[in-house]
Amino acid sequence: MNETIEAIRKAAAERIRSAEVPASVEELRVRYLGKKGEITSLLKQMGKLSPEERPVMGQAVNSLRAEIEGLIEDRKSALLAIEKEAKLLSETVDVTMPGKPVNLGHKHPLSIVLDEVKDIFLGMGFTIEDGPEVEYDYYNFEALNIPKGHPARDTQDTFYIEDNILLRTQTSPVQVRVMEKTQPPIRIISPGRVYRSDAVDATHSPIFHQIEGLVVDKGITMSDLKGNLLALAKRLYGEDTRIRLRPHHFPFTEPSCEIDVSCFKCHGAGCPMCKDEGWIEILGAGMVHPKVLKNGGIDPEVYSGYAFGLGLERLTMFRFGLDDMRLLYENDMRFIGQF
Ligand code: DAH
Repeated sequence: MNETIEAIRKAAAERIRSAEVPASVEELRVRYLGKKGEITSLLKQMGKLSPEERPVMGQAVNSLRAEIEGLIEDRKSALLAIEKEAKLLSETVDVTMPGKPVNLGHKHPLSIVLDEVKDIFLGMGFTIEDGPEVEYDYYNFEALNIPKGHPARDTQDTFYIEDNILLRTQTSPVQVRVMEKTQPPIRIISPGRVYRSDAVDATHSPIFHQIEGLVVDKGITMSDLKGNLLALAKRLYGEDTRIRLRPHHFPFTEPSCEIDVSCFKCHGAGCPMCKDEGWIEILGAGMVHPKVLKNGGIDPEVYSGYAFGLGLERLTMFRFGLDDMRLLYENDMRFIGQF
């Protein structure tokens, strides 16, 4: 029996050492230590031995069992460690690899110019007011001295939600809304989207943006209007910019004017930008009509004010020398990406 023990010891050690995966080690464990394993069958044969031999052989088999258990445990943990190492290696992250580029967005040209205008007016003590885009006919027209049937309505055809509710054609309705809730002094600008049922072309869009301005206080005159808007023109187009006021008509201002700036490309000499005129129209303005002040709950005998309306698209097109307004809406990255 001694030889059998020696043979098993040698073979088991050899097999365990050459096992290459934990599963094969497990097979060997069953083969040697399992219920029908070789060690168990050795123990079963003990009965055939003489009483003197039994304890000696028993001890020998037990120590063989302990030895094989030890070898199996060691081999198993060695193989598990190798497997883990291989897994870690295969999952390594190369931190020196270049990352995926992150494309940073930037402001749309309309926002660039709008933010500039806001900044200029905030610097002059104005605050910024918001108004609804879905507006009552009353605020969009009636309160601005444009009653039903007035010819000024023809040039501002829009989209109607109901008979008396429409998409506003101008930011001017904010004037009356602000006056209704604020007593003078009032100094506000109100930028926003406006709508007209116009077909799209190089200079028209059914949706565009205006910036309204309103100043109401005691003793406000046309020279305040001129001074503030000259300051705006200089900030937008340079210190040597001049403005000129041309008489015009708006139902909600009296007197009314359009304001031109000296062409910032040719400084008045004439060029394609200003269509050889030397001047470029940038806004409509005037002294707030007494009826409009009254509609806003302000006494025209005590207060006076001026108002103006700027087209943001027009301003932006001049600012960047664009000849087609559609560029501003098409979101073509070849264009948008240039700003
Ligand atoms: N709302 C006018 C328009 O859309 C622009 C305008 C003109 C606004 C004169 C004003 C103003 O406040 O005083 O054509």
